Amino acid sequence: MHGFTTRQLHADGRRKPLNAHTMPIFLTSTFAFDSPETGADLFLGRRAGHVYSRMGNPTVETVEQVVADLENGEAAVAFGSGMAAIQAGLLSVLKAGDHVICGEALYSPSLHLITARLADWGITSTVVDTSDVQAVEDAIRDDTKMMFYETPANPTGTITDIRALAELARPKGIVTIVDNTFASPYFQRPLDLGADISLHSATKYLNGHGDVIGGIVVARAELADKIRLYRRDTGGILSPFDAYLLLRGIRTLSLRMQRHHDNAMTLFEFLAGLPTVSKIYYPGDPQFPGHHVAARQMTGFGGCFSFEVAGGFEAAKRLLKRLRLCTLAVSLGTVDTLIEHPASMTHVATPKEVMERQGLTSGLVRISVGCEDIEDVIADLEEALKPS
Ligand SMILES: Cc1ncc(COP(=O)(O)O)c(C=O)c1O
Repeated sequence: MHGFTTRQLHADGRRKPLNAHTMPIFLTSTFAFDSPETGADLFLGRRAGHVYSRMGNPTVETVEQVVADLENGEAAVAFGSGMAAIQAGLLSVLKAGDHVICGEALYSPSLHLITARLADWGITSTVVDTSDVQAVEDAIRDDTKMMFYETPANPTGTITDIRALAELARPKGIVTIVDNTFASPYFQRPLDLGADISLHSATKYLNGHGDVIGGIVVARAELADKIRLYRRDTGGILSPFDAYLLLRGIRTLSLRMQRHHDNAMTLFEFLAGLPTVSKIYYPGDPQFPGHHVAARQMTGFGGCFSFEVAGGFEAAKRLLKRLRLCTLAVSLGTVDTLIEHPASMTHVATPKEVMERQGLTSGLVRISVGCEDIEDVIADLEEALKPS
């Protein structure tokens, strides 16, 4: 098998329409049939081909092929957002009466979707700290059909042992979904470790340039077929234009991820020496609770981490107001550095007791370290973190 970087450049295949070098954007909602029989055959799956772009589109299928390859999965299904991908991953498997275990360190909308919306549809959930394998085992019930977690988790980097949870789940027929957004397939491939589904907010590192909202689910073929059917019925497919931008972003994924990682490590080391920073949640820190598991299941620690500013909310706000280079914005994984305040922004909907347990304090800021010359990012933070 070729190396990761070769695959990110060549997994789209050699044969493209009209001998194009890169996959063109197929901006077409429907596809013409050359006869009524062909149309009927396509609808019944007796013949391969395209029918209608909500069901499948050549540009979208190419990005699916590339991401499936990079994740070592059999197939992928692309969506118009990470949340649409998560919804499809959950609901293509779960039905009323089922129970799901989910990590408590989770992007707020994912936590809300699982604990509030799924409850409306008769699906119950237990929220646990999935970094504690025993706690997960204790939460398993006869009706448990799924485990869902992020690792590293947003925003505190909590690490869950993918192999350990897969070994708990598999014999009981429980489907495990890993939100692999923070690591990207370059640093972590959950399917190799026994997970059933790896999914992404493709908005983040896969795209890398902050110009797409997208999501993608990777699984074995039979599970991916179910997810594709769910997408056909609910309509959440990625647009061909965004698929093109994603394909373009993925061509540099490994190069960007390595730079994000190196820059994050340098920034972590700088922040660790500052009296104005009271705590850092970075899986690359040898003292971080999940560091050893992360070192075993990842080949790098990513570029996004959180730290607590001494002085609480006021100090965090002062920092965010003073920055001149880093952009105050949610989202992560872009080539430039973004910084935000989880407790009042991305994680504002997380219940207070979960926030407390997870260390999501009012002094916590999350930084997605970009690919800039890191000295410039450090200088920006150094100035902004000076005691006033
Ligand atoms: C870990 C994680 N998963 C899922 C999502 C949702 O993705 P999207 O915003 O593309 O819907 C996000 C968004 O920030 C995220 O950070």
